Amino acid sequence: MPGRNEWETARQWGAKYGDLVYIKNLGTGYLFLNSYEDAIELFEKRGSVYSSRPQTTMLDLEGWSDWFTSVIPYGDNLRRARQYFNRIFQRSVTKNYYDVQTQSIHKLLYKLVQDPDHYRHHIRQAAAEAIIKIAYGYEILENDPAVDVIDTGIRSVSDALAFYLVNAVPVPTPSMLSKLTELYGRGDNETFIAQTVAVAFGAGGDTTVSALLTFLLAMVLFPDAMKKGHEELDRVIGKHALPSFEDRPRLPYIEAICKECLRWQAITPLAVPHLAEKDDIFKGYFIPAGTVLYGNVWAMLRDPKRYPDPDKFIPDRWLPAYGEEPPLEADKMAFGFGRRICPGRFFAENSIFIGVASILATFNIEKAVDEHGVPITPTEDYLSSIVRHPKPFKCKITPRSDASVLAVRQATKQL
Ligand code: HEM
Repeated sequence: MPGRNEWETARQWGAKYGDLVYIKNLGTGYLFLNSYEDAIELFEKRGSVYSSRPQTTMLDLEGWSDWFTSVIPYGDNLRRARQYFNRIFQRSVTKNYYDVQTQSIHKLLYKLVQDPDHYRHHIRQAAAEAIIKIAYGYEILENDPAVDVIDTGIRSVSDALAFYLVNAVPVPTPSMLSKLTELYGRGDNETFIAQTVAVAFGAGGDTTVSALLTFLLAMVLFPDAMKKGHEELDRVIGKHALPSFEDRPRLPYIEAICKECLRWQAITPLAVPHLAEKDDIFKGYFIPAGTVLYGNVWAMLRDPKRYPDPDKFIPDRWLPAYGEEPPLEADKMAFGFGRRICPGRFFAENSIFIGVASILATFNIEKAVDEHGVPITPTEDYLSSIVRHPKPFKCKITPRSDASVLAVRQATKQL
């Protein structure tokens, strides 16, 4: 199997030979699950067998397997880490972060008005700002080196952050770190808590950035979707205000754009691999213990039977009026499966909603033009990695009106 875009290769093989794609490499078996139903059957219903993670010598040598939540084998440490995450990021708690998320997006709008060409940098900064405030209770500075930790990988991230955050400004709200330390921070548990908090930063920043970059790319390539989004925002909240979380139930088209962003360009196309801990039999096939299983989120979200014209960005597919039944929700796959499902998913969906709604309310996002005035159509090329990001592309981000600029000024004045 080629070492790039394995999810697409597994999808194509699946279409040719059947949903289950099995390959063997250097003695290890890899099973790609191209169908949602198979992923649910194995990862959810047979969760006692398929909830661990493959361990590599590198992970072990570098000491990640003890604390880095996404790679911890199934067991006590994993349950402890997931308990911490649930305390802070379960659905009912995430509304406590609405203000922080909204403020970081308002700052982003302000920067996009001032300096739209560096949108990538501003989006990264906004995502880092929100998660650092919630995780550590710190307000980071513009161009804070802490943000770069997201890009440089999160090896020893907790040490690096502690170092950088010395420059940041503490905010008087309880953070993930302070809450967990208060609740569970006895004895040597403090180190584990600090490490788990660092995971929130590592897992939560980059993924949200990917979603918002995909959103911008979609707006450039599918201007009809942008137009419909603008119409809904103007009708529901008017042209002089910025959207808030309270507006969400009245913005079904914006919600549909968010879902389509998750579907159209899977952020984590193979989720994170699960490990078979025991021998098992599935659909007549023997799955030996030690097999590494990938839920092929990419293939599931581009299944043409569920999502006609899967390569196109069509938010309307999520609206009740589009067909008979709305299709299977993208978040059922985009955030993984079973006992390892992403614990940050509610928070992530909120970040995407407020980002998409606010950017759309304020800006037109269009093709940039070259030196001859010819519009540049960006490609759909993505960097091939566990977390996919679109390759840098040019686009033109301009305020929709003076009223939108004024709304941003007013919103940021109070910050
Ligand atoms: C759009 C944004 C996000 C996407 C698409 C995403 C996706 C995923 C996926 C696919 C997994 C693996 C699930 C599996 O093994 O089946 C995962 C795990 C994880 N995610 Fe997320 N995630 C996002 C945002 C976040 C955020 C904001 C946080 C933290 C605040 C977070 C924290 C984690 C953690 C700690 C794990 C490891 C869970 C475990 O191994 O048991 N994620 N995520």
